[in-house]
Amino acid sequence: MSKHIALVTDDPGWHGRQLHDAFLRKGYKCTNVSLADCYINVGCGDDTEKNKNTLYIPGFEDSLPDGVFVRGVQGGTLEEVVFYLDVLHALHELNILVYNSARAIERSVDKGMTSFLLDQAGILTPPTWVGNDVHQAYSFIRRELALGNKVVAKPLFGSQGKDLQLISKAEDITNFKVYNKIYYLQRFITTGDQSAFDWRVFVIGDEVVACMKREGMDWISNVANGGKCYSAMIDDQFASISKRAVRAVDMHYAGVDVMQDLHGKLWVTEVNSIPAWKGLESVNNLVVADKLVENFINSMGVGN
Ligand SMILES: Nc1ncnc2c1ncn2[C@@H]1O[C@H](COP(=O)(O)OP(=O)(O)O)[C@@H](O)[C@H]1O
Ligand SMILES: [Mg+2]
Repeated sequence: MSKHIALVTDDPGWHGRQLHDAFLRKGYKCTNVSLADCYINVGCGDDTEKNKNTLYIPGFEDSLPDGVFVRGVQGGTLEEVVFYLDVLHALHELNILVYNSARAIERSVDKGMTSFLLDQAGILTPPTWVGNDVHQAYSFIRRELALGNKVVAKPLFGSQGKDLQLISKAEDITNFKVYNKIYYLQRFITTGDQSAFDWRVFVIGDEVVACMKREGMDWISNVANGGKCYSAMIDDQFASISKRAVRAVDMHYAGVDVMQDLHGKLWVTEVNSIPAWKGLESVNNLVVADKLVENFINSMGVGN
């Protein structure tokens, strides 16, 4: 019987369809699952059927998935999001491959934890201050401005370049918005006099499969923010720092954001556990979904 994969997403879109088709090409059955429709049902059912009854995944009533590919975790209240991650943690506890794992997703969605782990692993990441205290936050900014640096304020759980703010002068200090009462403040990395750009390095397993340069309309280069994609060769230095970053946050695959400053130094700013790849594919000759599914199947073989 063919293996049956759960594709976790509440909005499959282009990426979901790509993955779905890639699984079908490999002879796997693939069903979309929204975490909001799953539930945990402790203390019901007899012993033989225990796991199946304890964790309900729609579309998997007869047996739990052989593997779970996480393409999206929807937002919500803190309780909702914790519950969605509980479902992924529970699947992992039942020895089902969850790709990327709930732990990896937690680590990368939370920019503070990513920065901490990158730094602990000795990977160059811009100096960053994370916390609640407004006075300490302002001191960090003042210190950076005095050194001639600008500061980027980001929402702790931000993505797609949304709600980023640039603090470049003393008057900005009291004028920026703090999201959900946690400051995430980071030294601005200058990449060019005229334009700002960074690199997206796509790592699957221990391989860099593709890389692109992104140039923003302003200093934010996300494709979702209008950033333009350019194909880029896979440079050894970029590949090495990106693979180390993925290992530091313990992911099966990731989209790593790398910046190069005016002195040529490389800085990792982010490791994305649920990265998009439409822009990347538009400037590279590969089918990312096929590569992902191949690595997913190999990972199923060696457990998680
Ligand atoms: N420290 C920084 N210095 C300069 N530009 C930055 C810095 N951090 C982020 N950026 C720019 O903003 C973009 C989005 O930041 P990122 O941390 O990747 O958040 P998101 O999760 O929103 O993608 C980056 O791709 C880059 O163009
Ligand atoms: Mg990013």
